[in-house]
Amino acid sequence: MASKLWEKNVQVDHDVERYTVGRDREMDMYLAPYDVLGSIAHITMLQSIGLLTADELDVLTAELRSIYVEIEQGRFAIEDGVEDVHSQVELLLTRRLGDLGKKIHSGRSRNDQVLVDLRLFIRSRIEDVVAAMTRLFKTLQEQSERYKNVLMPGYTHLQVAMPSSFGLWFGAYAESLADDLAVMRAAYHITNRNPLGSAAGYGSSFPLDRAMTTRLLGFASMDYNVVYAQMGRGKTERVVAQAIAGVAATVSKLAFDACMFNSQNFGFLRLADEFTTGSSIMPHKKNPDVFELTRAKCNRLQALPGEITLITNNLPSGYFRDLQLIKEGFLPAFDEIIDILTMVDAMMRQVKVNEHILDDSRYDLMFSVEEVNRLTQSGVPFRDAYKQVGLEIEAGRFCPVKQVAHTHAGSIGNLCNAEIEELYRHELDRFDFDTYHKAFNQLLGRQS
Ligand code: ARG
Repeated sequence: MASKLWEKNVQVDHDVERYTVGRDREMDMYLAPYDVLGSIAHITMLQSIGLLTADELDVLTAELRSIYVEIEQGRFAIEDGVEDVHSQVELLLTRRLGDLGKKIHSGRSRNDQVLVDLRLFIRSRIEDVVAAMTRLFKTLQEQSERYKNVLMPGYTHLQVAMPSSFGLWFGAYAESLADDLAVMRAAYHITNRNPLGSAAGYGSSFPLDRAMTTRLLGFASMDYNVVYAQMGRGKTERVVAQAIAGVAATVSKLAFDACMFNSQNFGFLRLADEFTTGSSIMPHKKNPDVFELTRAKCNRLQALPGEITLITNNLPSGYFRDLQLIKEGFLPAFDEIIDILTMVDAMMRQVKVNEHILDDSRYDLMFSVEEVNRLTQSGVPFRDAYKQVGLEIEAGRFCPVKQVAHTHAGSIGNLCNAEIEELYRHELDRFDFDTYHKAFNQLLGRQS
């Protein structure tokens, strides 16, 4: 078995290695490109404080850049017997450059290395999540505008209540995503801070230039206090998981609505055939499995903040190996939510709405309040009008006028979609992904 970075003279038991490394080799593959970027920033800073010569920096940077390309091209793996990505990158450097490779770790610990890797990874993946959210947001707004004149029943207690519309229904989920984006922005804000230089969690006697690595990695600021920087492990993941869970909650509610409205007993929506699945016994079936799985996947994502809370809950400050396990649920969550958003976007684009729902007399009573309001506007006191319509309904004499004239802000006749778009755009514009793109390109010696 290959040796460990920290191994001195006692052989590590195989079962203990299996138990402690667990799924870390697989999980660390998510972090590999960011580990290399963090190392390039770190050694650039080491050279500036005299711990590497300019020549050494050039040689190391060139080698780290080629490891980055190997990762991009899928030619990088964490070998058996190597504990994690941090060890693998250092191993490659020492194999290729000899003792020079051993110099990169001055003033650093794997504790702040994994912290910075996670921050860089999360920042990039939030950008992808936001792009997927934005596509769905636009689709929902477009559908809201397209169907703004198509009425449907609104429900309370799942009982027919008042007139609603597809304009409201689609638009509601767009506005929900705008709020979810605000939470995502807050999560991004605490992610976009540099923990590098906190080392094992207590800093270093080297005069590390933390402002320099902060700039080189395109962070908005550093985590100043080194103890707090280490406390960010688990906290960052929890806050980001909560932001993902918020998006999942929105989508899961939409998925339930869609399943229900697609059922024959409602018949408000028709999902495109390619998004439904058949039954092995009932030849007529077109089941909304895609939305059902969406609902379950979203619900599972909502369990993630709870899982992270439980892993971290009773830990005092300082690093503990417990934190490693967070990666297993957390790192794959980004692909999952992006997959969900992409699928739901495709379905929402193709969904067909029933423009004749109100022809069915079972929905007549949703116009009762419209009738009360009409009488009220003609001078009848509200309570009397309410009673008059109530008696007509009881006597089976209620005859609805199937028209609505809602004009106030946010209602059927005045959706405020432009204002909702403005709300979304306001958050979107404040992410500033460009700063870190430029920083990464510089570290990699690529054109911006
Ligand atoms: N795999 C470890 C983790 O994710 C890396 C840090 C190891 N540090 C340590 N002191 N054992 O937490």
